[in-house]
Amino acid sequence: MPDQSGARRPVLLITRRLPEDVEARAAGGYDVRQDPSDEALAGAAIAARAEGADAILCVAGDRMGAETIAALPDSVRIIATFSVGTDHIDVQAAKARGILVTNTPDVLTDATADIALLLMLGAARRASEGERMIRDGAWTGWKPTQLLGTHLGGKRLGIVGMGRIGRAVAQRARAFGMAIHYSNRRRLPAEFESGAVFHADPEAMLEVCDVLSLHFPASPDTHHWLNAERIGKLPPGAIVVNTARGSVIDDEAVIAALKSGRLRAAGLDVFENEPKLHPGYRTLPNCFLLPHLGSATIETRNAMGFRALDNLDAFFAGAAPPDQVA
Ligand code: DGY
Repeated sequence: MPDQSGARRPVLLITRRLPEDVEARAAGGYDVRQDPSDEALAGAAIAARAEGADAILCVAGDRMGAETIAALPDSVRIIATFSVGTDHIDVQAAKARGILVTNTPDVLTDATADIALLLMLGAARRASEGERMIRDGAWTGWKPTQLLGTHLGGKRLGIVGMGRIGRAVAQRARAFGMAIHYSNRRRLPAEFESGAVFHADPEAMLEVCDVLSLHFPASPDTHHWLNAERIGKLPPGAIVVNTARGSVIDDEAVIAALKSGRLRAAGLDVFENEPKLHPGYRTLPNCFLLPHLGSATIETRNAMGFRALDNLDAFFAGAAPPDQVA
């Protein structure tokens, strides 16, 4: 449909429901096509719905692999993902077809770091067990030895991947009295380290991680990075926290270590093949599980949507989108 000036508005396929204000802004600038089901569609269904679309606004978890990209109509010139992670998109395949890809960095740093601390506390203080006890009506009263957890204060936190989110986690963890260690491709300038201890080799850092928090992207190189061998290098009774992507940990190895007590607890917000997480987690009392809530605040989801639309607006105005990843 043309806008008031008579110009044709770009056709935008939005694969899911988005916060109200984001949908309203999108409707103001685009001819929006949206699937009301709000479920992850098969790649072929996304490609079919994109017939005649100029752009796609997709989300983390949408199947935008090589096959979907190959099946997209030629009309699609840009994919703006409503996520910082781009592991669900075959970015190289998009590039090869001349389709530009953008993401939404920066705006979910604080929300994700907050969830990492929630996971640390939930795992260390046995929040799942406590909550279940109350909901099941199994709480018979306060007892001096009931559900004893462990302090975060005085523990050493190892952060793998000291980007924006890793640094925000470090900042919060300091307030809990944790000593910060980190490993990153490059050492941070001293003003960003704030006393954190740099380990050039993440392997060498593991032995000091009472709590390990993962903050690096999923890729073939990081697939199942936290495996049995690396768990074996952590101090006995360590806690593992993951807000990055599920595929960076080997579920079988983590579940075995949680069962044996080699790991005290885990706090997980992301899962390999989510939402079909490894069934072993469901019955383990010592893991605190959330359904990928890292960025789930209305402020952050609005900011992500607006950022995705900023990228689309720039592209259709003939400018370079600020967050182009390919
Ligand atoms: C992202 O943006 O990659 C997040 O995982 C969604 O919360």
